[in-house]
Amino acid sequence: MRRYEDKAWRNSMRIRVDVNNMMSENIGEKGLTRESIEKLPLSRSVEGMKAKRGQMKWRELPYNQDEIVKQIEDCARSIQENFDSFVVLGIGGSALGPIAVHQALCHPRYNELSKDKRKTPKLYVEDNVDPERMAALLDVIDVKKTMFNVVTKSGGTSETMSQLLIVTDLLHKELGEDISSHLIATTDKEKGNLVKIARRENLTTFIVPDGVGGRFSELCPVGLLAAAVCGIDIRELLAGAAYMDELTACEDVWKNPAYLLASMQIEALKRGHNIHVVMPYADSLKYISDWYAQLWAESLGKRFDNEGNEIYAGQTPVKALGVTDQHSQVQLYTEGPFDKVITFIGVDEYRKVTAIPDGYMDIKDVSFLCGHTQNELIKAEQSATEYAVMKSGHLSNTITLPEVNAFTVGQLLYLFEVMTAFAGELLNLNAFDQPGVEEGKNATYALLGKAGYENKRAELNAAPKAKDEFII
Ligand code: PA5
Repeated sequence: MRRYEDKAWRNSMRIRVDVNNMMSENIGEKGLTRESIEKLPLSRSVEGMKAKRGQMKWRELPYNQDEIVKQIEDCARSIQENFDSFVVLGIGGSALGPIAVHQALCHPRYNELSKDKRKTPKLYVEDNVDPERMAALLDVIDVKKTMFNVVTKSGGTSETMSQLLIVTDLLHKELGEDISSHLIATTDKEKGNLVKIARRENLTTFIVPDGVGGRFSELCPVGLLAAAVCGIDIRELLAGAAYMDELTACEDVWKNPAYLLASMQIEALKRGHNIHVVMPYADSLKYISDWYAQLWAESLGKRFDNEGNEIYAGQTPVKALGVTDQHSQVQLYTEGPFDKVITFIGVDEYRKVTAIPDGYMDIKDVSFLCGHTQNELIKAEQSATEYAVMKSGHLSNTITLPEVNAFTVGQLLYLFEVMTAFAGELLNLNAFDQPGVEEGKNATYALLGKAGYENKRAELNAAPKAKDEFII
C-alpha cells in the first residue's frame, strides 16, 4: 500500500491555511472583517465555479491520467537507464512547474551530486533564449547522452521553437537522420507546429489535454515527465492534488481554503493592496513562488471583465524568500505603504535537522545560538516576522505544509490553482486566457519578419520614435 492510500497519513499531511493576520481582530483598523468578505459576490462565484467545472479540464488531472501515468513512468525509467541529462525546452507554463516541483522534491544540489548518489539524470530547464545560456548548456551536456523534451501547448512559441531548431540541428549532426531516440515532444494533440514536426521526426509525443492552459498544466505530462525522470513519485503528487480537490469542494467560503484565500486577496485588492508577496521559509519552495507569480499575474491581470467593461484588474505578485529577504525586503513590508498582502509559507518538519554546535561560548551574542538547530532558528525567524508584520498593521496570512513531499506539493499547486480560478470569478473575468502575452508574441513575429504579420510590423513602425534627449 502506498502511504497516501492511508487516510490517517493523508490527514496528517493536510496543509493548513491561517488567515488570522488578515482580520481586524488581529491587526486593527486596516484588517478585513467577516462582514466585508460576505459582501463580495460569493454565491455568484461559487455557482460560477460549479458551472465551469467541466470546462476547467485541469481539475480532472488528478483523476483521469491512469494510463498516461503508466506511459510516463515507463518512458522515465528508460530515460533514467540510458541518459545522463534531461533537458526541458519550454517557457512560461511549460517550464515554471517543472522547475518548481523539481526544486521542491529533489536534492537541493541535485545536478552537482555524483551520478552514484543522484541515480537519475541531471535536469536542465531552458526557459529563456539568452544566447549565452544556450551556449553554456551545450558546454556542460553531452548531446549523445541527453534526452531533450520540447514542451509547448500552442506548438508555436518562438522561444521554444528557436531552442528546438538549435537542438534538432545538433542532433541531426550527431545522430544522422533519425533523432527520435533523443527528443520527446509534449504538445497539443493537433494544433500548432510541434505536432507536425513530431510526426515528421517520428517522436514520442505526450499530449497536453484540451482545456489545460499553460499555467495550469504542471499536473499533466508537461510537468509529470520531468518529475518522473528525476525520481519524483508522480502518483503521490496527483494524490495530493486530489486530496486538495476534496478540501476545495466545500461551498462554504469560510471552510474552503482556496475560496477563503481568494476572497481575502480580492477584498484586500479592493482596498488598494495591489501587491501579493509570496514568501516561503524553505529554499525547496522558492520556485513555487515563481510558478505562482505566473499563475496569479497572467490569470488575473486583465483589461476587460466578462461583459467587456474596462477594469484593468490584477494584483502584482512578488517573490520573496524567508529568511533571506528579511534582510532585503521586510523593512518595506513592516514600515512601507499599506499596499500589499504577504503570504508566508512555512514547514512543520524540514527533511533535515541541522544542529548548531557549541563555540565561542564567551561571546554571548553568538553563543545564544549554541545548542539550538537551524530548524528552530528558521521557525523562530518566520514567527518573529509574522509577528512584526502583524504588529505593523499590514495584512498577511500563512500556509503551512506538515512537510515538503510530493503529496503536500500536489496539494499546494492545486490549492493555488483553485484559488486563482475563484479569484477570477470574484473579479468576473476570464482567468484562462492571456491576450496581453499574445500581443507581445505577435509583435516579436512582426519584428522577425514572419509572413502574415505585415500589418503588425507597420503598426510597430508607426510607434513613437525614441528621442535622443531622453537617452543619456
Ligand atoms: O499560461 C500560458 O498559457 C502561457 O504563459 C504559456 O505557458 C506560455 O506562453 C508558453 O506557451 P506554450 O506552452 O504554448 O509554448
